[in-house]
Amino acid sequence: MNEIKEIKIDLKDNSYKIFINDDIEKILINSIEKILSRPRVFIITDENVAGFILPKIKKIFEDGGIETKSIIIQSGEKSKSFESLEKLIRELLSYKIERQDTLIALGGGVIGDLVGFTSSIIYRGINFIQIPTTILSQVDSAVGGKTGINLEEGKNLVGSFHQPKAVITDVSFLRTLPKREIIAGYAEILKYSILGDKDFFNWLEVNQEEILNLNSSLVAEAVEKSCIMKAEIVEKDEKEKGKRALLNLGHTFGHALESKINKDGQGILHGEAVGIGICLAAELSFKMNLCSMENKEQIIKIIKESGLPSHITDLGTEIHAEEMIINFSLDKKRKDNSNTFILIDDIGSAIIKDGISDDYLKSFMISNGFK
Ligand SMILES: NC(=O)c1ccc[n+]([C@@H]2O[C@H](COP(=O)([O-])OP(=O)(O)OC[C@H]3O[C@@H](n4cnc5c(N)ncnc54)[C@H](O)[C@@H]3O)[C@@H](O)[C@H]2O)c1
Repeated sequence: MNEIKEIKIDLKDNSYKIFINDDIEKILINSIEKILSRPRVFIITDENVAGFILPKIKKIFEDGGIETKSIIIQSGEKSKSFESLEKLIRELLSYKIERQDTLIALGGGVIGDLVGFTSSIIYRGINFIQIPTTILSQVDSAVGGKTGINLEEGKNLVGSFHQPKAVITDVSFLRTLPKREIIAGYAEILKYSILGDKDFFNWLEVNQEEILNLNSSLVAEAVEKSCIMKAEIVEKDEKEKGKRALLNLGHTFGHALESKINKDGQGILHGEAVGIGICLAAELSFKMNLCSMENKEQIIKIIKESGLPSHITDLGTEIHAEEMIINFSLDKKRKDNSNTFILIDDIGSAIIKDGISDDYLKSFMISNGFK
């Protein structure tokens, strides 16, 4: 791929660029000097990414005269915890990190969220760069500055808004990603098209198979389109006081499913939970006379065809509506004791719908396969 795609996120003093290509060396050589305050970086990554990608990145930095230290943490959601946060900060301090240094988050959303949060609180905030290595992180979690960790009570309950200095995306990194992770990350691409761009949705219907087979130029185009949409929304509402909530399409159901299922140790990926969450949001939109039957069916069809779970029964485990309701009570969008959901009034058009009662949701969920 010759051209390096560049997307600017315009947030005044916190502005930055997303660079997209299939050759990280090309991107770094062109951009890194301008981004670093001084030539020393701490690369934080997980065990899996360390095996595949870390040596290459380290070499590029070191060949460019940039002093590099790397820290490898355990892969998986469990690393988004207070325990890992403290361990990481202490390790950075043991290396005598200074305020002008830069943290590099090399990995998926787990690394991005943990490292982003770390960089927002260590010395009251230092710079960090995102190098996302999963589809989900390339199109979503690395962009927009939300950082955080989980508590037993729920996901992402502690965190901050802290924008990176740059997002450096190499779509060739996705080649080592397990197919299940590719499909799960693709749920977030579908999400953008459903919430805000009908033409993008139609384009995905045609190109879905090729994207899931990692055709580089189509993946880069899908990543670019998704990032442009996220950038536009984040620029208007950096701290999620309004329109940014639209990005949570499928996520209220999704987070509740993740909390419940992952607590029981069976394991569902974020994107898989979002896939079912989007289908439930489409069903609920139809039930509330917001979207047509045709819209709803088109959405469920594309999710099914991508290989994502599209119905609660696909999970092969019983989920109680009551447990979902308890989880909704922790949702950050909830106000005045009633629920807010992102729903759909057409493909390419999402709305924020307040005032949905627990009882209404309970009976909706029971008629959709919950116990
Ligand atoms: N901050 C935000 O705005 C935001 C948005 C969406 C999701 N998230 C968070 O993102 C997290 C999920 O991110 P994720 O799906 O990227 O999960 P992840 O970071 O756990 O990565 C998934 C798995 O893939 C492995 N991996 C990563 N890159 C690889 C590669 N190139 N080759 C082989 N293996 C690779 C990882 O080691 C891990 O096992 C969740 O914690 C979610 O809450 C945050």
